[in-house]
Amino acid sequence: MQTVLVTGGAGFIGVNFILLARKAQWARIINLDKLTYASNLQSLAELEGAPNYDFVQGDIGNLELVSSLLERYQPDAIINFAAESHVDRSIFSPQDFVQTNVVGTFQLLEASRCYWEKLSLRRQQEFRFLHVSTDEVYGSLTPQDPPFREDTPYAPNSPYAASKAASDHFVRAYYHTYGVPTLTTNCSNNYGPRQFPEKLIPLTILNALDGKPLPIYGDGQNIRDWLYVTDHCEAIYKVLQQGNIGETYNIGGLNEQANLTVVEKICAILDELAPKSDFGYSSLITFVKDRPGHDRRYAIDCSKIIRDLGWQPQENFESGLYKTVEWYLSNSAWVNQVRSGVYQDWLKQNYENRKV
Ligand code: NAD
Ligand code: DAU
Repeated sequence: MQTVLVTGGAGFIGVNFILLARKAQWARIINLDKLTYASNLQSLAELEGAPNYDFVQGDIGNLELVSSLLERYQPDAIINFAAESHVDRSIFSPQDFVQTNVVGTFQLLEASRCYWEKLSLRRQQEFRFLHVSTDEVYGSLTPQDPPFREDTPYAPNSPYAASKAASDHFVRAYYHTYGVPTLTTNCSNNYGPRQFPEKLIPLTILNALDGKPLPIYGDGQNIRDWLYVTDHCEAIYKVLQQGNIGETYNIGGLNEQANLTVVEKICAILDELAPKSDFGYSSLITFVKDRPGHDRRYAIDCSKIIRDLGWQPQENFESGLYKTVEWYLSNSAWVNQVRSGVYQDWLKQNYENRKV
């Protein structure tokens, strides 16, 4: 069994990846996470004390700590999920994004390079550094533009996207300059269980259940490509096992949706699963002030990973969204814990001055 150092494994995608990896017995996992507001160890409670799993609280930017973990656990691979991931927060406080996404990834690469250079030739050839990135690095599309390909030029528009783009460039440079066997994945919007409710889909579900407004930025016609989180995790594992070193792989759901449509679909599911006698959920939809610099459309051409690695998204949007709503309805303990004071502070900061 391979040993994999997973960073950011207490966040939305990392948690789903670790749970899947454990179920499929993909690897022994060391989970390094700083435990920021976006993390939730409750999601991994079933793994406490489990064999072949260790959790370490710490920062990917802490070179000494990461180097000592690499020495101690001798991983065969590193998967870097750790990041500040929310665009709206990057508009309020970009420094955190530079610190973790740029400097943190750089330090992680440095520790990995020093570790990798000391491995035997056979282990050097087998080692992989997989960096999990985003489609936002490619910028914004018009309705007529073809979807992003791996060779689409980078044109990041938000501080979040710029910080991820910078981290992708460092990963690329560590392959070209030092030969560290890196892989990069650029994925579209994920949704599914255990996502922190600052992102559109869980925010909509929880606000609706509370009878609160469902905020739609601008005209609601911004388009995102949505992928069920488990499909993303399967894709990452395929890239780790079969990807060509030094290359990047786009991952997407072949599922472009306008934000307003997504919110309306959630309302329809809630009308069925948790009906209110006095109103339909869509009556809560409220148009609010737009996100500054809001990218209009993302779309992913994922033909490379489909063709070269045989990956395909398994979940369709209707069933994936249904499962997601069901998960939030049946996990009220998780939901209540997440909606702590810090989360309330965020709602105030982001939505108080958006009324139009
Ligand atoms: P998330 O915000 O839910 O979780 C991020 C995790 O990283 C948290 O557990 C946090 O504590 C941890 N973390 C933050 N800074 C850290 C640091 N300095 N050191 C160690 N750990 C740190 O994010 P997510 O949605 O799970 O995204 C994971 C990765 O996937 C990110 O790199 C993101 O850019 C990328 N991505 C996300 C999406 C999406 O739709 N969510 C889509 C494409 C790519
Ligand atoms: O595209 C991949 C990216 O998807 C990831 O790299 C990011 O980590 C992830 O957060 C996500 O970014 P978005 O900005 O697309 O996700 P978010 O859920 O914040 O917003 C989705 C869309 O919904 C976006 O067009 C903004 C809009 N929106 C969002 C919120 C929170 C609203 O209309 N109202 C809202 O209240």
